[in-house]
Amino acid sequence: MQTKHPIGILGATGMVGQRFIQLLENHPWFEVAWLAASDRSSGKTYGEAAKWRLDSPLPERVAHMTIAPAEPEGAPKIIFSSIDTPIARELEPRFAGAGCAVISNSSAFRMAPNVPLVLPEVNADHLHLIEEQSWRRESGGYIVTNSNCTVMGPVLALKPIEDRFGIEQIFATSMQAVSGAGYPGVASMDILDNVVPYISNEEEKMEEELLKLLGKLESKPAGHVVKPLGARMSASCNRVPVVDGHTVSVSIKLGRPATREEILAAWAEFRPLAGQGLPTAPDQPVEWAPQNDRPQPRLDRNRGKGMAVTVGRLRPCNVLDWKFVVLSHNTIRGAAGAAILNAELLASLGKLEPVAEAAARV
Ligand SMILES: NC(=O)c1ccc[n+]([C@@H]2O[C@H](COP(=O)([O-])OP(=O)(O)OC[C@H]3O[C@@H](n4cnc5c(N)ncnc54)[C@H](OP(=O)(O)O)[C@@H]3O)[C@@H](O)[C@H]2O)c1
Repeated sequence: MQTKHPIGILGATGMVGQRFIQLLENHPWFEVAWLAASDRSSGKTYGEAAKWRLDSPLPERVAHMTIAPAEPEGAPKIIFSSIDTPIARELEPRFAGAGCAVISNSSAFRMAPNVPLVLPEVNADHLHLIEEQSWRRESGGYIVTNSNCTVMGPVLALKPIEDRFGIEQIFATSMQAVSGAGYPGVASMDILDNVVPYISNEEEKMEEELLKLLGKLESKPAGHVVKPLGARMSASCNRVPVVDGHTVSVSIKLGRPATREEILAAWAEFRPLAGQGLPTAPDQPVEWAPQNDRPQPRLDRNRGKGMAVTVGRLRPCNVLDWKFVVLSHNTIRGAAGAAILNAELLASLGKLEPVAEAAARV
């Protein structure tokens, strides 16, 4: 790619917005050209408005950029969105309607039948759903989403198992980091020395999103639809005093028997993006940790620059067939990194150029 695509970040000052800025610094295909947040931040420089919380310095150029109003006028045609769901429900269609490719982290449209919920290693073909969106026909714009940060790890780990053996039942229990709740998130008095066994709407999101992500794209006379995976799924979600990294214990019942070696081979050989040249794609999306006390958030969350998930503790389950633990970095693989990988996939498929062309015609 010769020139970089200018991109905008909606919700740039938040936890996920900051990750976008960090991960897009020196990105070979995309350049941050526009930042927007709430009216509280609009008109300030990014350095003034954002409470930078990451362990690398805020890039100087970005610190001096002025936060724009959250409106499509004057925004680039590729928008990474990381705003809360009620605001996303109102704003994202406005940007798509104005001809933008909106690559969203929010849950507002994830389950809409014509909106792709995509993890490139798992269901890249679901991107066909873009063509079912009226914005696409009218202005060239569209919405693509990535999943809830907790379900991302289990889905990557389960995809190669589903492909080879089928999955009939899933029990998943999460131990979720505080950064998953945005900044400042859960009050320190509530989470230190504690575990909170409730995260609003999280179990519902995990259950429905997992089945859509592992579902099959079908072509009907009226257009494309996703048929969800026909498995039974039960999730329990807990907040734990970890800064970054969601851990999930998973038990599964398979469609046909598999040995431990066959499951390990399914994970080791799972490299669906190999050779596609997507800059953010990890070489090995599902990494196996053989030690009996891994994965652990502090030790394993940055594998594959935060884009690989780590699986460990594979062992027989006395109720279902097998159980294991999976860990993923919630603000990288589970949010900003996932959206950037979706954008790279869209770019490689030529789905970003038509947005700009359609906009130029308006
Ligand atoms: N954190 C995670 O691990 C994670 C993972 C996956 C998905 N997500 C999703 O990503 C989204 C953002 O999460 P977060 O953790 O980054 O939240 P956050 O830290 O609370 O940040 C929210 C962002 O939205 C902006 N905002 C608030 N009201 C707005 C408005 N009316 N118009 C425009 N912008 C507005 C805020 O700007 P101000 O600074 O000006 O208030 C801030 O930039 C949520 O939908 C969340 O569910 C988060």
